[in-house]
Amino acid sequence: MNTVESAIRARKRQFQVRDAMAERDRALIALRQSEERLRLAAETAHIGTWERDLDAGNLQCSDSCKANFGRKPDDPFTFEDFQNAIHPEDCAAVTAALGAAIRERVPQRAEYRVFWPDGSLHWIVASGRILFNANGLPTTLVGVVLDVTERHIAMDTLLRTEKLAAVGRLSSSIAHEINNLLECVTNLLYLARQATPDQDAREYLAVAERELRRVADITSQTLRFHKQQSAPRAILASELFDDCLSIRQDRLSNAGIIVERRLKITRPVLCFEGEIRQVLNNLVGNAIDAMGAKGGRMLLRARESTDWRTGRSGLLLTVADTGSGIDGPNLRRIFEAFFTTKGIAGTGLGLWVSQEIVERHSGRLGVRSRTEASSGTVFTLFLPYEAATR
Ligand SMILES: Nc1ncnc2c1ncn2[C@@H]1O[C@H](COP(=O)(O)OP(=O)(O)OP(=O)(O)O)[C@@H](O)[C@H]1O
Ligand SMILES: [Mg+2]
Repeated sequence: MNTVESAIRARKRQFQVRDAMAERDRALIALRQSEERLRLAAETAHIGTWERDLDAGNLQCSDSCKANFGRKPDDPFTFEDFQNAIHPEDCAAVTAALGAAIRERVPQRAEYRVFWPDGSLHWIVASGRILFNANGLPTTLVGVVLDVTERHIAMDTLLRTEKLAAVGRLSSSIAHEINNLLECVTNLLYLARQATPDQDAREYLAVAERELRRVADITSQTLRFHKQQSAPRAILASELFDDCLSIRQDRLSNAGIIVERRLKITRPVLCFEGEIRQVLNNLVGNAIDAMGAKGGRMLLRARESTDWRTGRSGLLLTVADTGSGIDGPNLRRIFEAFFTTKGIAGTGLGLWVSQEIVERHSGRLGVRSRTEASSGTVFTLFLPYEAATR
C-alpha cells in the first residue's frame, strides 16, 4: 500500500514539475514576444534604448540609439563618446538629470543638443532611470532617447514666421506714420536751403535733404520691400561708395579706420539704387562695428566679374575689414532674420534683407571670414549690369 501511495505521490510531483515547466516556457515565450513587440515599436519610432552598468562603466545601445547619435550599428559608442557628443552648454543639465535619477529614484527627462560625427547639431529628448540591487545600491542606468531635431526646426520656423509677420505689420505701420512727418521735414529743409545765403549751409542742407529722402525710401520701400515700386537707375560703383562713406565719415575717423578704395570699373549698373545702397550701407556698417574702437583697415573694391552660373558679367563690389571675424557657427547663421551678436544695438535684419534684395537683382552675396590672429571678413556683392529686370 505504502509503495503504491508513494508511487502515486511521485507521479503527481512529476506532473506538477512538468506543468510548472510548461508554465515557465509559456511565460518565457510571452516575455520574448512582448520584448520583440517593444523592440519593433522602438525601432519603428526610432526610439533608442541604452543601458549602462555603473560598476563596469560599459554602455550597451540599440541600433536606433546609435542612429540618434549619428552612428552606424557597427560603430563603437562608449559612454565617453556620449559625453563628448553633448553640446557644452547642455552638459550641466544632463549631469543634473542623471544625479536626480539616482537621488530621487524616479525617471528623469532631459532635452539636450548633441553633435554628430559629421558636425551637424541634433536635439535629443531622453528619459532615464536607475536600477538598484537588493541592498538598495544603484547598479544600472537605463534609458531611451529620441532625435527630435525636426520638431525643433519646425518650431523655430514657426517662431520666425510669426516674428516676420509681426515685423511686416510693424513696418507697414511705421511707414505709414513716419512718411507724413518726413515729407514735412523735407519741405522745411528745402525752404531753409532757399532762405539761406550761406553757401556752406546750403550744401549741408542739400545733403540733409537727400539723406532724409533716403529715410523716406527706406520706410516706404525697403521695409515693405515686397511692394517695391521705384524705377531702376544706372549707378556707378564710385557713387555708391562715396555716399556710403560720406554718411559714416565721423565714425570712421573717430575709430581710426583707414579706408582704401580700389575702383577698376567705370561701367554703371542698372539697379534699384536705394536698395543697393542699403545693402552696401549695411556691409560697411557691419565692417566698422567689427573693427570697433581698435580701428583697422577697410578695403572697398570694385571690378568687373562674371557670374559662372549664368555667364552674365557685372559689377563685383568687395567690402573687406580687419575686424573680429566671424566664427564657424555664427557664419552659418548671419543671413538668418534676427541673428545678431550686437545685443540691442543690432536688429539682425541687415544681411537677411540684403540677401533678399541681392537675389531679386539676380546677384550674389558672398562671405569669407577668419577669427585667427590676422582676423577679418570679406563680403562680396555681385550685380549683373542689367540687375534690375523685374
Ligand atoms: N564684417 C563683419 N565682421 C564680423 N561680424 C559680422 C560682419 N558682418 C556681419 N557680422 C555678423 O553678422 C551678424 C548679422 O549681421 P546683420 O547685418 O544681419 O545684423 P546686425 O548688424 O547685427 O544688425 P543690423 O544690421 O540690424 O544693425 C552681426 O551681428 C555680426 O555678428
Ligand atoms: Mg548690420
